[in-house]
Amino acid sequence: MTVPFFSLADQTRQLRSELLAAMTEVLDTQGFANGPPVAKLEAELASYLGVKHVVALNTGTTALQAALLGLGVSPGDDVVTVAHTWISTCWAISYVGARPVFADVDEGTNGMDPRALAKAITPKTKAILPVHLHGHPVDLDAILDIAKTKGVPVIEDAAQSIGSTYKGRQTGGLGAVNATSFYPSKNLGAAGEGGAIMTNDGAIADRVRSLRDHAQQGRHHHVELGFNWRMDGLQGAVLRVKLPHLDRWNERRRAIAARYLDGLKGAKGLRLFPEQSWARCNWHVFPVFHAQREALRAALEKKGVATGVHYPTPVHLQPAYAHLGVAKGALPVAERLAATEVSLPMFAELSDAQVDEVIGAVRAACAEL
Ligand SMILES: Cc1ncc(COP(=O)(O)O)c(C=O)c1O
Repeated sequence: MTVPFFSLADQTRQLRSELLAAMTEVLDTQGFANGPPVAKLEAELASYLGVKHVVALNTGTTALQAALLGLGVSPGDDVVTVAHTWISTCWAISYVGARPVFADVDEGTNGMDPRALAKAITPKTKAILPVHLHGHPVDLDAILDIAKTKGVPVIEDAAQSIGSTYKGRQTGGLGAVNATSFYPSKNLGAAGEGGAIMTNDGAIADRVRSLRDHAQQGRHHHVELGFNWRMDGLQGAVLRVKLPHLDRWNERRRAIAARYLDGLKGAKGLRLFPEQSWARCNWHVFPVFHAQREALRAALEKKGVATGVHYPTPVHLQPAYAHLGVAKGALPVAERLAATEVSLPMFAELSDAQVDEVIGAVRAACAEL
């Protein structure tokens, strides 16, 4: 038996007729750019996440940029974030002319360590940007407490965490303005690109709505530097079909994660990542950790099990960020996670037999290493 790392084939098969009907409606009504399905999606997502405003955008990277602009972050400012993330988190900070400042991460969440945040904040810090990596929430209360004391707003990078909850509350609605992604492989994925900001602040939502449509307020009247950040109507329609299934898919992912965590207990040299008691993780990625990461991956590939790595090089060690001058060794936890993480197959349509195949292959590979 071979087990793919990720596949949308079964999900697409199950939803094909609904997806085609929704897409056909967009074709017939010509609501291609930010059309009626996008406005409906925004309302449905706001209700799902328990926030007042959702503004749909063309990508998650844009959403982070929009969140930073919405808070007025500008050239010369610092934003405290993490280096163990997908690079978009930092691109967005750079796009608004600010500088990423890295706080190390915590092995218990794989996200921002509040103690490192406390040390990294300075008077130049204009925002704090933690990432709910792999879908597991960061310890938000600890981060929000520090932020409140310092008077600095928090932006959640909830690109990977849709449907995950922190102490019973949906992630993506707890910071001042937050961002998510609908990249196709996300738990709620478009048939192309997509993203959104979420906020309870009406003024920020209005500003982002304006920015995404060329800062146009009244036809042909542009009030500031604007962008074309509109979501495609087709993506809005696809996401509306998928949203009602999200909780069911996330529940299945949670059952798969529980099966992995149980089945892999005690595997030689393998560190598991169980969820925190206050978290309900959507398991966007299922990470395990091994000192011989590449050997383990190669052994699994031979056994027909595909794996991934999220992410092999922390942002401060990327050539694009060499100018920050953050040396190797400066962020030991982020660097250790980046060097040892292996992502196992994870998507809602995996069968128990496939999960057991992965468990058997990992246990055998670990025993042989
Ligand atoms: C943590 C994180 N931030 C930001 C993004 C950017 O989202 P997008 O790919 O939609 O631009 C992603 C998705 O890839 C992500 O995983």
